[in-house]
Amino acid sequence: MILLAVAPAPGALAAPEISHGLSTAGHAVEVVLQPGAERFVGPAAFAGSAFTADAPSRRPDALVFAPAGAAELARLARGLAGGAAESYADVRPAVAAPDLDPDTARHPAVRENLSLLRRDGWRVLGEGTLADAGEVVAAVLGGLGAAGGPLAGMRVVVSAGGTREPIDAVRFVGNRSSGRMGLAVAREALRMGAEVTVVAANVETLEPGVRWVAVETVAELEEAVREAVRGADALLMAAAVSDFTPASVLEGKIRRGKKARLTLELVPTADVLAGVREENPELFVVGFAATHGDPVPDAREKLRKKGANLVVGNDVSRTDIGFEAGQNEVWVVGEDRERFVPRASKEEVACAILEEMVETMISKGRT
Ligand code: CTP
Repeated sequence: MILLAVAPAPGALAAPEISHGLSTAGHAVEVVLQPGAERFVGPAAFAGSAFTADAPSRRPDALVFAPAGAAELARLARGLAGGAAESYADVRPAVAAPDLDPDTARHPAVRENLSLLRRDGWRVLGEGTLADAGEVVAAVLGGLGAAGGPLAGMRVVVSAGGTREPIDAVRFVGNRSSGRMGLAVAREALRMGAEVTVVAANVETLEPGVRWVAVETVAELEEAVREAVRGADALLMAAAVSDFTPASVLEGKIRRGKKARLTLELVPTADVLAGVREENPELFVVGFAATHGDPVPDAREKLRKKGANLVVGNDVSRTDIGFEAGQNEVWVVGEDRERFVPRASKEEVACAILEEMVETMISKGRT
């Protein structure tokens, strides 16, 4: 049973959706409306998906405070006596989704409470702005190991975002990757039960429920990926990795001066995917190939050249899918199979990629 405690905050309006998401995933949910929460949402809003109780009927398997207010976060962090739900503060997994106004969120005492909770094993989503209902659900299901999900017991590493190679102290060679596809893969892998590490190259929004390693350059990404794949089962290289880096980095800032032209010399970077593949023959490796035009021939070639198990190809010349768009359309190309995933949300595409990964693993007798 999952216990959902709802604080008297505007975000309480999102609580029925969270409850619904958890019960759709097959869990019994009991909702405790904290004093005053009924001003925002009533028991009727949870009808059909959860039992609304004054006090939980038994010890829960997971604890969710969403939305969580500053007072209850303080009580949970400091072990102060609270209501019925707070007496289960030792249950893990425990997820808190704070919903705080900006001044409260900035208050040092509140920030300290959030870090105390994190240290205590809580998954705290965000710094104050209420996380999406889907993120809360993913964090809880990830914490529960998604009870028998197709990736349960697996360790998955996902690289996301795009690298930045410094030219001088203020400029860099970068790319347009937003990190959304990689984060969608991480979120879905978590939902399917995997333990997920994200190596995030310049991604602004932290994905809850995953181990997060922030990097900037190809060299940093390479080191972090090498480290993260130790003992892992799969690597999905969704990051857009720069193929070139400036031959030298200027200290300070290049001045305009009287230059009639400025030539930038670039040298190739290491191929992270190919290197990791070579060092970890047992690792299941998924590459991503951004191509102008038909992605299949390019994906096939990269599959062979880089030794990946699957390559996900998409056509970046289209503006309705890919880079900054919320949707994608891809071909998942394997050694002896390929699958077309028609235009859909990045989450749905991520799901199809992971399903294809699981099926390929099974067909190769690797699970
Ligand atoms: N990749 C990598 N290291 C690099 C460049 C790319 O690990 N230095 C990974 C990407 O994360 C992606 C895959 O390789 O998963 C394919 O990336 P892409 O840039 O399309 O491949 P390239 O090898 O750069 O091929 P080309 O530029 O010739 O198309």
